[in-house]
Amino acid sequence: MTSSENNKPVGVAILGLGTVGSQVLRLLGEHETDFTARIGGEVQVRGVAVSDASKPREGVDPSLIIDKPEELIDREDVDIVVEVIGGIDYPRELVLRALRAGKSVVTANKALVAAHAAELSAAADEAGVDLFYEAAVAAAVPVVGMLRRSLAGDKIVRISGIVNGTTNFVLDAMDSTGASYEDALAEATRLGYAEADPTADVEGHDAASKAAIMAALGFHSRVTFDDVHCEGITGITAADISAAKEAGQTIKLLSICERIVDEDGREAISARVHPTLVDRSHPLASVSESYNAIFVESEAAGQLMFYGNGAGGNPTASAVLGDLVGAARNKVHGGRAPGESTYADLPVADFGQVTTRRQIDMTVRDRAGVLAVISQTFSEHGISLQTVRQEAAENGARLIVVTHAAREHEIAETIDALGGDDEVLSVDSVIRLAD
Ligand code: HSE
Repeated sequence: MTSSENNKPVGVAILGLGTVGSQVLRLLGEHETDFTARIGGEVQVRGVAVSDASKPREGVDPSLIIDKPEELIDREDVDIVVEVIGGIDYPRELVLRALRAGKSVVTANKALVAAHAAELSAAADEAGVDLFYEAAVAAAVPVVGMLRRSLAGDKIVRISGIVNGTTNFVLDAMDSTGASYEDALAEATRLGYAEADPTADVEGHDAASKAAIMAALGFHSRVTFDDVHCEGITGITAADISAAKEAGQTIKLLSICERIVDEDGREAISARVHPTLVDRSHPLASVSESYNAIFVESEAAGQLMFYGNGAGGNPTASAVLGDLVGAARNKVHGGRAPGESTYADLPVADFGQVTTRRQIDMTVRDRAGVLAVISQTFSEHGISLQTVRQEAAENGARLIVVTHAAREHEIAETIDALGGDDEVLSVDSVIRLAD
């Protein structure tokens, strides 16, 4: 029986009252009448699960607070569970408990979805309920809905995006002020962009979870966090940024999901996160501060760009509430959104099979014949050079080589060989270029 048939309000449990949960609760209360009209029925918050129920919480009805999320989930009058706790193992247990009890789930938890989408989706399918996670990728920027619904009739070729605000803030600060990585990160922490422990952001793990979700949705295949090749920004130096600037480029941490064809001619998926040199004319180059942007290339729609706030309490709450309206409408009127679509079942390519262009910055001996020796090393590995630039350096010469597209394993083998080359004093930096 739907809620409209029995005229009962839709009961909502909120798990977590942190930055996001508190804004979800506030906005639900402030716009109650609008939510009722948009859903076609009333929504009532049955309780809010927190870890410490004794903590005073301004503006929150104390009778809603509970420190036993399982009890709240199990209540008969709870129809939808909103999970905004974070972490993986405990939220997984709670979300599975809710789904198995026939409650729809709205979660903002990218790490959970990227690790356990198969299990969660199966539980949602079995119970015939909704599992929504718009807030898991780029918060208020509607990426999940765009991939799951808007572009469901198209063939997506590539998704490349800036989906981590902290690292974009750091790289943008390094670019605009010339600051070192350490100083830019300290500034991001002081302004509240970076967490006290920024590991998940700066090592690229947060962006990798989002890449897994985007690749799975975009290519209708199973892609998990472990499938994503991930390199963070901790090795990016002020010198790298300054060299990029001189060449009319900037460095961005990109999450790239694309269809590739491997050396055996098989179609596969590549999902990866790594610092990338982007020409200043590229739409992603102008994404500043902590903003997110996702650039999608698809067969029929062509190029699309989505831009906005990818983090923070209110933008994330906006996405959670959009999902909540969708799940509540289904409770009121019946039906559910389609479950996950993994029919294409494309394999995830080994990273060595991925084709990229590289800029290799090295210090070489400054004497006759050096260029011939180095270009021989590239050619022996089947790598064609696009540009070669030489500058005077204190000890020897600085050589900046940009390759044509080549497989990752070929480039890695070339760089190993260059390291053993007598003419090469040091390989100082190796950065991939955006297409
Ligand atoms: N820490 C993330 C960011 C937001 O900096 O974008 C949550 O995924």
